[in-house]
Amino acid sequence: MPVHQVFFLLYFIFSCFFFINVESRYHRYIQEEEFHIVSHISAAPEASPAPEASASPSAAPPPSPSYVAKSPTNNNVFNVVDFGAIGDGVTDDTQAFKLAWDTACHNESAVFLVPAAHSFMIQSTIFTGPCKTADLVFQIDGTIMPPDGPDCWPRNISKKQWLVFYRINGMTMQGGGLIDGRGEKWWNLPCKPHKAIRFFMSSNLTVQGLKIKNSPLFHFRFDACHDVRVESLTVKAPAQSPNTDGIHIENTNNVQIYNSIISNGDDCISIGAGCYDVDIKNVTCGPSHGISIGSLGIHNSRACVSNISVSDSVIKNSDNGVRIKTWQGGSGSVSNVKFDNIRMDAVLTQFHAQT
Ligand SMILES: *[C@@H]1O[C@H](CO)[C@@H](O)[C@H](O)[C@H]1NC(C)=O
Ligand SMILES: *[C@@H]1O[C@H](CO)[C@@H](O)[C@H](O)[C@H]1NC(C)=O
Ligand SMILES: *[C@@H]1O[C@H](CO)[C@@H](O)[C@H](O)[C@H]1NC(C)=O
Ligand SMILES: *[C@@H]1O[C@H](CO)[C@@H](O)[C@H](O)[C@H]1NC(C)=O
Ligand SMILES: *[C@@H]1O[C@H](CO)[C@@H](O)[C@H](O)[C@H]1NC(C)=O
Repeated sequence: MPVHQVFFLLYFIFSCFFFINVESRYHRYIQEEEFHIVSHISAAPEASPAPEASASPSAAPPPSPSYVAKSPTNNNVFNVVDFGAIGDGVTDDTQAFKLAWDTACHNESAVFLVPAAHSFMIQSTIFTGPCKTADLVFQIDGTIMPPDGPDCWPRNISKKQWLVFYRINGMTMQGGGLIDGRGEKWWNLPCKPHKAIRFFMSSNLTVQGLKIKNSPLFHFRFDACHDVRVESLTVKAPAQSPNTDGIHIENTNNVQIYNSIISNGDDCISIGAGCYDVDIKNVTCGPSHGISIGSLGIHNSRACVSNISVSDSVIKNSDNGVRIKTWQGGSGSVSNVKFDNIRMDAVLTQFHAQT
């Protein structure tokens, strides 16, 4: 592959762009049932915390990583270790996380703390809101990870999701820690594995400063959310890992993705149906499949996407730069899309839109 450097400046507006073409890529993830989560809400956190747990939140402040809890007045730190988590990378710490979440979520001011120097193994969990505070901090300074591959995944728990944040209005997920998706054992399997982090029907979310790697499927997914800000995120997965999109959004509006570095085996950022008012700035992608809008219009559906801006970004070592992908038979529109100051290094197809 010839390696060349091109500075690419492109500004254009699409209006009423109808779909008649097919994207050849294998879109196995798109076919998943969308509202799968609803049937699993019964797995929500326990109703009430054990009294000794809620009475002894940690006195220790979170260590000082690049992103510490925003408000110095907030000393309601709910450290998962105080709720029984071990953090040795082997013990199942799910119950402690659920208990700590339930307690934090019911407080009017809370920092949910995953402390540094620990590695927490947690099963598929739904962190359910709404919470009492609109300013919850989910501080990850240690490592969190799922069971290691399908053989360790409990048989009676859905493999389609790992950590889901549901109906959360107002939360900052931050810290100097790591989310390790342990996707290695899933990538070559024919079955559809789980996404790492999913936010569903939530709003006013900030994700900042975290590192996430090796998700079995998408790393972050936001659906049916609004007011989402992603800042200084690092996503890392091998170039050969299938469907490991960095950040996927759908039916989500008012999104800002800034100052992030993503290298993975699929779309760096993918923008699905129903998204609008999306601003992407200073993102470095690659290796990846670039930034894409779509795939839209699956199963003859109607899909609209508008007001998307991607600027001051770099896409390198990728098969695609920026593209709009559609399914044959779908309808709808893609409008007011702006790509400005995108630098491409070693990208095969720099801009691609099928009409
Ligand atoms: C919130 O947490 C603080 C500190 O742990 C505690 O004193 C207070 O009672 C909690 N409030 C509620 C509503 O649980
Ligand atoms: C949004 O979140 C921020 C920080 O978490 C909080 O200060 C603010 O009040 C929230 N806004 C709304 C409208 O809930
Ligand atoms: C799954 O099975 C285990 C052991 O058989 C049981 O303890 C657990 O409650 C089950 N979980 C669910 C979500 O049904
Ligand atoms: C762009 O993002 C990178 C990586 O996060 C960061 O180091 C750099 O400071 C950002 N640049 C600007 C102008 O914000
Ligand atoms: C487009 O989205 C931006 C936020 O990314 C917003 O500030 C702006 O008002 C939107 N423009 C229109 C025409 O809706």
